[in-house]
Amino acid sequence: MSVILGINSNHAGSSASVVVDGIPVAAIAEERLNRIKYFAGFPALSITRCLEIAGLNLSDVEHVAVGRDSSANLHKKLEFAIRNPAKLLNLASIRRKSKAFDDLETMIADHCGVDKASFRFKQHNVEHHLAHTASAYFASEWEHSAGITIDGSGDFVSCLFTECEGNEIRPIRKVFVPHSLGTFYTAVCQFIGYGKYGDEGKVMGLAPLGEDTYRDFFERAVIPTEKGFDLNPDYFLPFGANQGMEINENGEMIVHRLYSDLFIKTFGEPRERHSEITKRDEDISFGLQRVFEDRYMHLLRLLHKEVPVTRVSMAGGCALNSVANGKLLTETPFRETCIQPAAGDDGLALGAALYVSNSVLKEGVRWKMENSYLGDEYSDDEIRNEIAKYDLEFQELTRDELLERTSEEIKNGMVVGWFQGRMEWGPRALGNRSILAHPGFPNMKDILNARIKHREAFRPFAPSVLAERQTDLFEHDHPSPFMLHVYKIKPEWRERLSAVNHVDDTGRLQTVSRTENPLYYDLITAFDRKTGIPVILNTSFNENEPIVCKPSEAIECYLRTRMDVLVIGSFFFKKPDAGETK
Ligand SMILES: [Fe+2]
Repeated sequence: MSVILGINSNHAGSSASVVVDGIPVAAIAEERLNRIKYFAGFPALSITRCLEIAGLNLSDVEHVAVGRDSSANLHKKLEFAIRNPAKLLNLASIRRKSKAFDDLETMIADHCGVDKASFRFKQHNVEHHLAHTASAYFASEWEHSAGITIDGSGDFVSCLFTECEGNEIRPIRKVFVPHSLGTFYTAVCQFIGYGKYGDEGKVMGLAPLGEDTYRDFFERAVIPTEKGFDLNPDYFLPFGANQGMEINENGEMIVHRLYSDLFIKTFGEPRERHSEITKRDEDISFGLQRVFEDRYMHLLRLLHKEVPVTRVSMAGGCALNSVANGKLLTETPFRETCIQPAAGDDGLALGAALYVSNSVLKEGVRWKMENSYLGDEYSDDEIRNEIAKYDLEFQELTRDELLERTSEEIKNGMVVGWFQGRMEWGPRALGNRSILAHPGFPNMKDILNARIKHREAFRPFAPSVLAERQTDLFEHDHPSPFMLHVYKIKPEWRERLSAVNHVDDTGRLQTVSRTENPLYYDLITAFDRKTGIPVILNTSFNENEPIVCKPSEAIECYLRTRMDVLVIGSFFFKKPDAGETK
């Protein structure tokens, strides 16, 4: 038996995975367990939990794959240091931290509380963008594809072109920092008051509310080149070697100011977080998303010239831009994408492990990701024990009863917490740690926001659609099992899907097939039978916190918010005042 532990550590999206005989058996982001969003410290809890799920100990691990390589791209780091002598200290401190990480045995032993004398693993450092690429390509059954990864930065690179063939990923071209599409996106988000790490997705939702008022400004911010793109230095403060980001002592990501005074001269003062969103801010987000998409397509077309195939494996934080992903299928020569749900840095733990299995050890096992459910799971007995700690009335239902009752409640406009099976891998709730609701019930978006989610009114909720009905409702047939593509909703369905139809008549859909998630598929089918709508509104099971992981967190969220119904495993809860608008 071959056991590989993959980790992403001391970097945003700290996470772990365990791959046994070439097949991932568990993968979890640390934030779900320690409850610190985008946690960037050591993934001690997820290492322990992944091994528990696999029924293994650290002493069973033969290989540890780390999604970083501090020795990669040294020539570029040196060039940077010579050009930016003031940043030498900054670079030296990053390098010192990376070096400290090289003593992995001590780190794992200290953080996980085990004696390192029992360790027998070999360490493999996999360069950040290779690990990203591997997380996508080695989750597909393809024998040949182009590969592209685009993010803020990792190991001094922000974009990597590759050719993926058999068990090999061949680098073709890199874009080095400070040039970075991810940093560009983050900088502009910051200017309009979305400066927290991970806020970019919110601004993507704001963009369609704006107009193309600031086209010239944004056109000049990122200059397309024959090799990729350059950031215009007039637009940004010098980032330093860490692209303006730091990790504080709690393992949280801190983003320093990235945009230059040119933004203030052009637009006036930056928007304060939580203040009113003005037309200016909407138009800035429009300009940002438009230029981002344009440069994204430019990179993909350049890649296609190098690797003229129709399939592309994609990862990196920018690959979470589901709007751009929806468009690339018609605006570039690529016709099929493979993007696994943890496309951001949390995915490095899986990517590094798959890279070692496929490209280093050449184990000869190709895994196809059929679903995202690689996380924690709780039996009905464990859930019953948890419920017993609360003074709550509930019913224990058979599978058929559960589907009937839950679909009926959703039909009647109830907001349902739905906690089933194994937790999703990646940032999206995909039907196992989800809040579910009627996609066309009057005011459902407002109800969800007022009662639980407290999100800005402009942010859309997502539709989960039966896979075989996708093309009846949406204007594209490429599957989107992980909510990573946005497509137009067909005109005849827009009113019936009012709660998931965004202002530009699009939806960030999840296509659900029965093989991926039989219970969730059957629930949507039951809802379809009652309403004629093969769609359920699906949003993550949380209230301004990492998505719930344990039953107790789901129960607490149900009690704390005005959620009407909670279904955990076979157990069904409904509040006496369910459905009342207070
Ligand atoms: Fe990355």
